[in-house]
Amino acid sequence: MSEQRLRIAIQKKGRLSDSTVKLLKACGIKVNLNTQRLIAHSENMPIDILRVRDDDIPGLIMDGVVDLGFIGQNVLEEESMMRGVAGEATAHKVVKELNFGGCRFSLAVDNDFDYQGVQSLSGLRIATTYIHILKRFMEEANVPYTSCMLTGSVEVAPRAGLADAICDLVSTGATLEANGLKEVEVIYRSTAVLMQREKALSNEKQCLVDKLLTRIDGVQTAKE
Ligand code: PRP
Ligand code: ZN
Ligand code: MG
Repeated sequence: MSEQRLRIAIQKKGRLSDSTVKLLKACGIKVNLNTQRLIAHSENMPIDILRVRDDDIPGLIMDGVVDLGFIGQNVLEEESMMRGVAGEATAHKVVKELNFGGCRFSLAVDNDFDYQGVQSLSGLRIATTYIHILKRFMEEANVPYTSCMLTGSVEVAPRAGLADAICDLVSTGATLEANGLKEVEVIYRSTAVLMQREKALSNEKQCLVDKLLTRIDGVQTAKE
């Protein structure tokens, strides 16, 4: 792959995908995403779009293998905390706050769970992908618990007997509803941001990024 092309990571499938693709199109980037390919080349600009799991995006930027990434603040925060603990690279720049991708990171329990506040979770097992943000919240609340790390399908954990509660991202609430769960505590509110790798880009690439940022401003202002 050419080093000359700007590499942008987007979520392949999930809460951010549709809005991200819409924004890229509104910025004039022509690219065919109707394939299963991991990398799609833009036809009219020196840009490659990488379609990955959203949770992999912050790490790709922090390792400098991708130039730009669209990501939820919560996922970025979790990856920063995880890498901080492991002593791995965390440097990056947040270059734009975006007006989409709003979601909550919430505790949820079975509909018939008699929830009386976070103390009700004392001593229980909570399934989540984002163990560090959950840990910070539970320590501040002074409630002991056990965490069960799942990278996906967190919402089925209570029914599967893997956990007593979950902590996961909620956007429309459809996933919780479909799994007989109720949201009982919001612990983090997040929207999407555009992040850039820390290491300087070539002049050509930085010019292209600046042009995209101006276009994003235009698109977002028009929507307000
Ligand atoms: C999150 C979360 C739920 C879904 C909630 O997944 O894990 O599955 O969004 O959205 P809803 O309230 O609108 O139903 P994400 O987009 O992060 O995808 P992933 O699970 O593949 O990482
Ligand atoms: Zn995710
Ligand atoms: Mg999910």
